[in-house]
Amino acid sequence: MRTWTIRELLDRLITQFENNKISSPKQNAETIISHILKMKRLDIYLQLENEISETELNSILVITERRKKCEPLQYILGETEFYGYKIKVNKSVLIPRPETELLVEKIIKEENNVNSILEIGTGSGAIVIALKKHFQNSIVLASDVSKDALKTAAENAVLNSVQLEFVKSDIFENIAGRFDLIISNPPYISPDEYEQLPIEIRDHEPKSALQAENNGLYYYEKILQNAKGHLTKSGKIYFEIGYDQAEKIADIAKENGFSKIKVFKDLNGFDRIMRII
Ligand SMILES: C[S@@+](CC[C@H](N)C(=O)[O-])C[C@H]1O[C@@H](n2cnc3c(N)ncnc32)[C@H](O)[C@@H]1O
Repeated sequence: MRTWTIRELLDRLITQFENNKISSPKQNAETIISHILKMKRLDIYLQLENEISETELNSILVITERRKKCEPLQYILGETEFYGYKIKVNKSVLIPRPETELLVEKIIKEENNVNSILEIGTGSGAIVIALKKHFQNSIVLASDVSKDALKTAAENAVLNSVQLEFVKSDIFENIAGRFDLIISNPPYISPDEYEQLPIEIRDHEPKSALQAENNGLYYYEKILQNAKGHLTKSGKIYFEIGYDQAEKIADIAKENGFSKIKVFKDLNGFDRIMRII
């Protein structure tokens, strides 16, 4: 078998991803090579003429074949980064999105004196891990209806050395007590929109983490109908929301006795985060 330099392999992977219409071909190629060579992504450019061993080459080619078939790179590598923390992912959890980092950022900016936090639908645990790192003295309860998601979230808590509480619960079903913050990035894609999602998402990420009935509003409605009984006196709710859902969720919040509502936009100018008091 011939030997390959990093430069040659990088070019080969980029061409293959381009031919297979995979978005961001260069970034994919860099990430795969740097993951297998155990170096920072941009450091590969300091070693372009180095040769790759046969074992490393085989691992890189196996990953490349899976990626060419549109499998998300984060699932293939088993990890991603969220708010600067390493988060393990697998097919039982949604891959945490960059937009969701804004939810963490806003909460950290807006809130202090937080004693207790509940997250409904924690998935990989990415949000609560980032929040517990900041609000170190608060008690943080992470819930999800999926047993496998909770197992992954617990592994991520250990990986990031934070202590969280976990409970398997269908929304509030098994939740006791009151919290200063109730947080959720629930499934919010309507069944019609779900059919339009890219194949990369539809074929690989859990549908139960993405799709919601009632035009995508089911979980917001259920949470808002029951939240008053689980909030402290000055408690607040923070949601990640779909770009076109702010008005409808605000109406549901008002119907359920909440009056102060604030919406924050994401970097693309879309409504993305909602704070409800
Ligand atoms: C959009 S994902 C969010 C995951 C993670 N919090 C994040 O932001 O990356 C929604 C999560 O809600 C969970 N979920 C779905 N139905 C639920 C229910 N009835 N009760 C609690 N969690 C639920 C899913 O299993 C999934 O982990």
